[in-house]
Amino acid sequence: MRIDVLTLFPDMFTVPMNESMMWKARDRHILELYTHNIRDYALDKHHVVDDTPYGGGGGMVLKPDVVVRAIEDVKGVSKARVILLSPQGSVFNHAKAVELSQQDHFILVCGHYEGFDERIRQLAIDEEISIGDYVLTGGELAAMVVIDAVVRQIPGVLGAEGGADRDSHADGLLEGPHYTRPAEFRGLGVPEILTGGHHEAMTQWRREQAIRRTWQQRPELLRSAPLTESERYFLATLARESAEDCQERMM
Ligand SMILES: C[S@@+](CC[C@H](N)C(=O)[O-])C[C@H]1O[C@@H](n2cnc3c(N)ncnc32)[C@H](O)[C@@H]1O
Repeated sequence: MRIDVLTLFPDMFTVPMNESMMWKARDRHILELYTHNIRDYALDKHHVVDDTPYGGGGGMVLKPDVVVRAIEDVKGVSKARVILLSPQGSVFNHAKAVELSQQDHFILVCGHYEGFDERIRQLAIDEEISIGDYVLTGGELAAMVVIDAVVRQIPGVLGAEGGADRDSHADGLLEGPHYTRPAEFRGLGVPEILTGGHHEAMTQWRREQAIRRTWQQRPELLRSAPLTESERYFLATLARESAEDCQERMM
């Protein structure tokens, strides 16, 4: 996969994109990541990339001539999708990460200041992605969130043991609890089922724990999670337990 990033702050990518899984993906030639400084596409003497907004109002706006020139140069004749990081875009999630992980090449455009001249959107952007309903100072952190979440979905980036298919959201549920040594810590032990060596029982326990955790933390996810009939029954039991618990506390 090739990812190009257009940014005013390419140095922000240096450390995060050269550590851990991102480093592995690049070292194994699974990921080619290039950052391009938008300022290099400003042709005037002072490399000006922004200007005051027409009609007044605060802040500076990224200039369309500079940003569109940068996008067109980086895209060249490729068919790469051009994605704008923006708090106004569709909110990024697991499904989008999986979808982008199947692309050969895409381009991320990071904004700054008050935002972009609207004509950049109209002329050069295929899609807008937000990483959440809040506003960051620039698109760089958002781009790195997207890159990390996408790249770890590419086969070969995580080892077989740490496969992304068992992570939270991969199957519509949150992942259940994990335990490691010591077997007892500050009076808290490890569930016996994890030390008994009965693999089938352990798999079922893990699945039930994932359902339980999702019920406790993000119950709305269960509306669309693919559950078997017996898992639905287990969920109904959890719901009954919660209702009884609630009643007891009110008495
Ligand atoms: C200060 S923000 C501009 C916000 C803009 N004035 C607005 O209200 O929509 C500057 C840049 O940060 C990036 N950004 C901010 N919040 C973001 C978010 N939630 N997701 C993705 N990018 C974001 C975008 O690239 C944006 O152009």
